[in-house]
Amino acid sequence: MAILADIAIFTRDGGVILSRWGHYLAGVTWIGLLYYFNFVQVPSFATFEAAGRTEAIAKLVPRALWWFRWAAVLTVLFGLSILAFQDQLNGDYFKSAGGISISTGIVLALIMFLNVWLVIWPNQKIIIANAQGNLPAGADPAAAGRKGLLASRTNTLFSIPMLFFMGATSHFAVQAGFDTSESSKRGAFMGVSFLIILLLELNALGVLGGTGQAPHRRYMETHRDTIIAGFVLTAILYVLFSIFF
Ligand code: HEM
Repeated sequence: MAILADIAIFTRDGGVILSRWGHYLAGVTWIGLLYYFNFVQVPSFATFEAAGRTEAIAKLVPRALWWFRWAAVLTVLFGLSILAFQDQLNGDYFKSAGGISISTGIVLALIMFLNVWLVIWPNQKIIIANAQGNLPAGADPAAAGRKGLLASRTNTLFSIPMLFFMGATSHFAVQAGFDTSESSKRGAFMGVSFLIILLLELNALGVLGGTGQAPHRRYMETHRDTIIAGFVLTAILYVLFSIFF
């Protein structure tokens, strides 16, 4: 198989670039549809006549959600495959500046992935069933819509710092000379960051006083406020990164 060996793609580096390529394709599909739902579909559906909205939910939304949730699966699998091909699934990599950066991105992305499969999709299934005229007994489409919206807005919020830290892994964290050698500082950064992210997630799930409108959920009421909050969260996490390292 000398010919195969000559083709650079059949090497470990080839595995890295193929995994990265798959990761980008799946990632743009997932996050592109997330932004379509938040910036285009939700505000447009609010202005639709009831009959038009019902038809769109019954026929268009299931297709969009199919690509959305399976692209999320592929993004995670290709992301793990990059780590495996780059031979980084060991403790030492995760102690480096790049390792801390990718860990931050992965924490955000994994919570987003769980939101897709455990919150957005189950609640959207209720809304789709309602539009298709086969709502299961006891299901509440309005409550499902609200739960799905809060998780979807939170994914939009998280996507902004998630992409910053994904990209910063190879293109900033290492070159900028951050010193991540002290384990107590690494632990403190990951602990404080994770606490902030966890509080935002609990707020999306309604654990902090339900899912209704409240001052501490205001950033999720419009996509404009969610985008602003995403940049604020990125700045907070970046300042923490700079303080600790
Ligand atoms: C749990 C889920 C994810 C895992 C395990 C993961 C893993 C990775 C890894 C290992 C890298 C390479 C870092 C490096 O060495 O430069 C990376 C880069 C990247 N990821 Fe992810 N990722 C995840 C989710 C996402 C999502 C949802 C997106 C959204 C589009 C995304 C977009 C990117 C981008 C743009 C890069 C930068 C590539 C570069 O700078 O060359 N990732 N990811």
